[in-house]
Amino acid sequence: MATFDILVLPGDGIGPEVTAEGVRALEAIGQRFEHVFRFSEDHVGGAAIDAYGVPIRPETLEEAKRSDAVLWGAVGLPKYDNDPSAPVRPEQGLLQLRRDLNLWANLRPVRTEPALTHASTLKPEVIEGVDILVIRELTSGIYFGEPRERRMVDGRREAVNTMYYNEDEVARVAHLGFRAARQRRGKLTSVDKANVLQVSQLWREVVTEVAREYPDVELEHLIVDAATMHLIRRPRDFDVIIAGNLFGDILTDEASMLTGSLGMLPSASLTEPREDGTSLGMYEPIHGSAPDIAGKGIANPLAMVLSAALLLRHSCGLEEEAQALERAVARTIEDGLRTADLASGDERALSTREMADAVLERIGG
Ligand code: IPM
Ligand code: MG
Repeated sequence: MATFDILVLPGDGIGPEVTAEGVRALEAIGQRFEHVFRFSEDHVGGAAIDAYGVPIRPETLEEAKRSDAVLWGAVGLPKYDNDPSAPVRPEQGLLQLRRDLNLWANLRPVRTEPALTHASTLKPEVIEGVDILVIRELTSGIYFGEPRERRMVDGRREAVNTMYYNEDEVARVAHLGFRAARQRRGKLTSVDKANVLQVSQLWREVVTEVAREYPDVELEHLIVDAATMHLIRRPRDFDVIIAGNLFGDILTDEASMLTGSLGMLPSASLTEPREDGTSLGMYEPIHGSAPDIAGKGIANPLAMVLSAALLLRHSCGLEEEAQALERAVARTIEDGLRTADLASGDERALSTREMADAVLERIGG
């Protein structure tokens, strides 16, 4: 019987509602497979600004480092969106956690569920069978490069951000991408803007060098603008995609629409693997805080439940348990159960809790 310490950071909007279901999913797995998950919880994002005046406390970051994994809900509130220059913002908590824990590898799997192909705005015949793993670099690039500031020069406002990568940062993402491709369909697409940016020319050069160690993997380089086009034109051609922080951010929102619902997509943010192959990681649905539906109990909990499955796989080394949870989610969808974001026509929409209950009933069933 193994014991795991999980730090739960529900955050804002629908974060707390869906996070509660992620915790229940882990508890159910713990019961069935005889593991103990010990949970501790704290505020982040807007909730932490309200409670402590900062979007994440230093104590919380320390606690995260001591944990086996972090389960993250969502951050962001409309009151901050209307003021882009607010000195403290909920999103800073997220960026600080990524950076402080060195969570450089962001895995965003995008798979279309056969039963949901009609839910996408794209044609079913284009998105059927899509199965892509996007690996986004998460702790460097333009998100963190220096200088980054707003300033006054000759009485005029200016601002600067810097897109920075060094070869080690690129190489580790490339290795991860090639290794993942090897275990999947053997194709890696690297996305950059090498026709314009020096930083992308370095990116492409390093990826090409790393590729020599993986002759069995087919490597394709795509310029980011073309990549956005091919992603909706021929999404089935993609297997593993690697991209820098900003390009990965943009491409994964686009890729999420291949599945029809943002409410289905989990993510894992990992640091260097330990000896046993597991990593300290942070797990979050990619849907965000959705303040418009917060507090109504109607949010889709499946992205969070699938994030909990990734937590089992990557931070606990519990592959069988991760698959049990993923199968339970797939069966729930196949059985026609839907939350409001997925329901069409006369389908009854389940509440967040009912949908999660349906998944729990199907664990191991
Ligand atoms: C994401 C989000 C974040 C990002 C925001 C909330 C800071 O868009 O995780 O994709 O830009 O990385
Ligand atoms: Mg994003």
